[in-house]
Amino acid sequence: MLCEYYDVARPGGDEAFSVDASNITFGPGCLREAGDVAKSLGITRIGVFTDRGVAGTEHVATVLSSLRASGVDVALFADVRVEPTDESFKAGTQFAVEAGVDGFISVGGGSVIDTTKAANLYSTHPADFLAYVNAPIGAGTAVPGPIKPHIACPTTSGTGSECTGIAVFDLLEMKAKTGIASKMIRPSRALIDPNVTATLPANVVAASAFDVLSHALESYTARPYSRRTAPGAPSQRPSSQGANPWSDLGCGEALRLIGLFLERGVSDMNDTEARHQLMWAATLAGIAFGNAGCHAPHGMSYSVAGMVRDYCPDGWPDGAPIVPHGMSVIVNSPSVFRHTAHGQPERHLDGARWLGADVSDIGPAEAGPALADRVVELMQATNMPNGLTGVGYTAADVAGLVDGSLPQRRLLDNAPIDIDREVLTTLYEGALSYW
Ligand SMILES: [Fe+2]
Repeated sequence: MLCEYYDVARPGGDEAFSVDASNITFGPGCLREAGDVAKSLGITRIGVFTDRGVAGTEHVATVLSSLRASGVDVALFADVRVEPTDESFKAGTQFAVEAGVDGFISVGGGSVIDTTKAANLYSTHPADFLAYVNAPIGAGTAVPGPIKPHIACPTTSGTGSECTGIAVFDLLEMKAKTGIASKMIRPSRALIDPNVTATLPANVVAASAFDVLSHALESYTARPYSRRTAPGAPSQRPSSQGANPWSDLGCGEALRLIGLFLERGVSDMNDTEARHQLMWAATLAGIAFGNAGCHAPHGMSYSVAGMVRDYCPDGWPDGAPIVPHGMSVIVNSPSVFRHTAHGQPERHLDGARWLGADVSDIGPAEAGPALADRVVELMQATNMPNGLTGVGYTAADVAGLVDGSLPQRRLLDNAPIDIDREVLTTLYEGALSYW
């Protein structure tokens, strides 16, 4: 009996989808389980990776004391760069080699978790740096085998990096964001403690939640797995395999939770229920996009983040110019969903409904605007920037943004429509401002 999906199988298309389940523990206080988990994975000397902003928090203190109480030897690397680069990935790798660790634990946001994946990979299977980097920028060489155990402990409710086999970084010589994508670098375990959200500034919670929102919408509206060409061998089926019944489950629930709790979690840092639910939504969306893949809003976000000039949002340290990941994604999303809805209006209407819009009188032709308008409504309610102009760009920047994103084929080819230079230009122009 066939597993019926909304998209019918096509000649040459993949007839199966894979479920790479994430091995996670979720609950308040579960960071205290770090030592027990490390021991159960056979780790005797562990590399603890974090960044300077997180190093002094109780989260790292809790993890360190748990590891020491379990008799696990600790080597601390607190110099992870936020928005990592090839140079900072190499620094993490060098630390791992010199420290002689046999396992890793990351405590931080996506930058920390991604850096730990890379340090684990290159210290276990040394290679020229570009070997494992996604083609066409790198060689896209397959990771030759398993790497060391890695326990991921996210301290924000956004990236979902603890559930994926993706590590994103800036390649300095090309001034381009790119990444490494392999099932082999997915963390072996994740300890997801929603108590970490208690002290996050409102703007950080909002940006993270919009990253989650877009993970879920992109995975749900991605090109279905059955339209991707079947892999030459089953082991070559990519993590970005397209929308599938397993990922759909997480997308729907993540969007429903964001519709219910986003505004509460942003407006009141003491609303523990809302912040914990946003953390669970981040986990569900992470599992979903780890098995389906994102598409255009994330592909477009790389140049939005990489070409930043002088945008300095509240809530981020140092006052240095940065377009935080969630903002660099969500400024594109309404424009993209307005444009992609015609091929699968029902899925876009599902998204709008899950996010809290009343779609009872909306027909298929209005599905794109309905979803885009609901996302924009949530952006306005939580003080997100007003599209690309809100983070410092003008119409004159569109050509440069297009050039920066065109190489992101892994993401762009996962979109439900074909995306070339002309389409990408239309999408950026539509994202300049929303209100
Ligand atoms: Fe993301």
